[in-house]
Amino acid sequence: MKKVIFATGNEGKMREIRSILADTFPEILSMREAGIETDAAEDGATYEENALIKARAVAAADGESIVLADDSGLEIDFLDKEPGVYSARYMGEDTSYRVKNASLIRRLEGVPEERRSARFVCAIAAVLPDGRELTVRAAIEGRIGYEEKGSNGFGYDPIFYVPELGKTTAELTEEEKNLVSHRGKALRLMKEELKKL
Ligand code: IMP
Repeated sequence: MKKVIFATGNEGKMREIRSILADTFPEILSMREAGIETDAAEDGATYEENALIKARAVAAADGESIVLADDSGLEIDFLDKEPGVYSARYMGEDTSYRVKNASLIRRLEGVPEERRSARFVCAIAAVLPDGRELTVRAAIEGRIGYEEKGSNGFGYDPIFYVPELGKTTAELTEEEKNLVSHRGKALRLMKEELKKL
């Protein structure tokens, strides 16, 4: 079974990736563990392009592993799917999520419940040692809340309310979130695609 390298430096993501892929891929390394450094510009127009840019950069430095990379973001329908692929850069990379979340809530002021629909989207790209590439995409549907709620998770989680769960994703434990999240779903889809190869 081939080694997998996931193009991220984020430890939280690595925990999630390991817990989902471990039954199929026993050896999963982060970029750091694989001794690879890249800073590919994530300037694609879609989540898939950005994930491929990251995966290709690592694959170019490795050559014998399956390289995976993800890209995700928050789409708010009322804001024409903003912040979308610019989710990390919205209002500037260094602006706190307190400020970013407050800004989004303000931009939805007076917007009724049924027009506050939003989703977290995640694309995962794989680059195989023989050069083949594939991508998968998954999402979790929700609504933008009226205030921040919950202290788990990161980023836009405190304003992302999931009606079926009656909670924001910041009120879920890591395990609960992994079962329903865009990234958890996309990882499981990618696992199935890789098993078919
Ligand atoms: P990345 O591509 O996974 O690094 O995600 C890009 C950006 O999308 C993050 O910096 C967050 O702003 C936002 N985002 C993606 N996934 C989540 C999530 O699960 N919760 C909250 N924010 C997220």
